[in-house]
Amino acid sequence: MYIKTIIMEFIELAKSRYSSRKYQDKEIEEEKLLQVLEAGRIAPSAANKQPWEFIVIREKENLEKICGTYQRDWIRAAPAVIAICGDHKQAWHGSDEKDHTDIDIAIAVDHMTLAASDLGLGTCWVCAFDKELCAEILGLPEHIEPIVLLPLGYPADQGDPNRHNSQRKPLEEIVKWEKHS
Ligand SMILES: Cc1cc2nc3c(=O)[nH]c(=O)nc-3n(C[C@H](O)[C@H](O)[C@H](O)COP(=O)(O)O)c2cc1C
Repeated sequence: MYIKTIIMEFIELAKSRYSSRKYQDKEIEEEKLLQVLEAGRIAPSAANKQPWEFIVIREKENLEKICGTYQRDWIRAAPAVIAICGDHKQAWHGSDEKDHTDIDIAIAVDHMTLAASDLGLGTCWVCAFDKELCAEILGLPEHIEPIVLLPLGYPADQGDPNRHNSQRKPLEEIVKWEKHS
């Protein structure tokens, strides 16, 4: 019964997160911001390498610069953007040389988006930005890649509550039992 309750709460939390593309003109409390960052910090990573850096951008001038790497104006309303960067030198490379940076970063970002949602904050994964320009703005060395921009703020929009039915594939389509075919 205990486990069931936790799972139900988790599904509720996961469903509460959506891509917010409108933000209120309201600062984020320092404590909440730190809780979001903490959620990223504790994420698992391949061989526990934690190959990430979370760069918090809040100053107006820096926000303008970073938002200029993404060609959508909505991002400019966010009071903060976290640039989640992956360190390809630190990341685990398997015996087949597979670089696990992207996987590790995705887990950390997922933790952060869920924590934010629980705190009443909106986020939106942004990957379609100019990485070269972003790396230059942030002063990143070659081996550290900006992978996700995560705008963060109090949302001024709402997610479609039905989207997990209407915009997600049904289980029957994606789950295979024992083998592909
Ligand atoms: C890896 C990744 C990259 C994404 N990049 C962008 C992006 O560049 N711009 C954007 O507006 N949304 C982006 N999204 C948001 C997706 O479009 C969104 O998560 C998806 O449509 C599902 O909607 P939901 O987040 O509201 O549930 C990205 C999401 C993921 C997971």
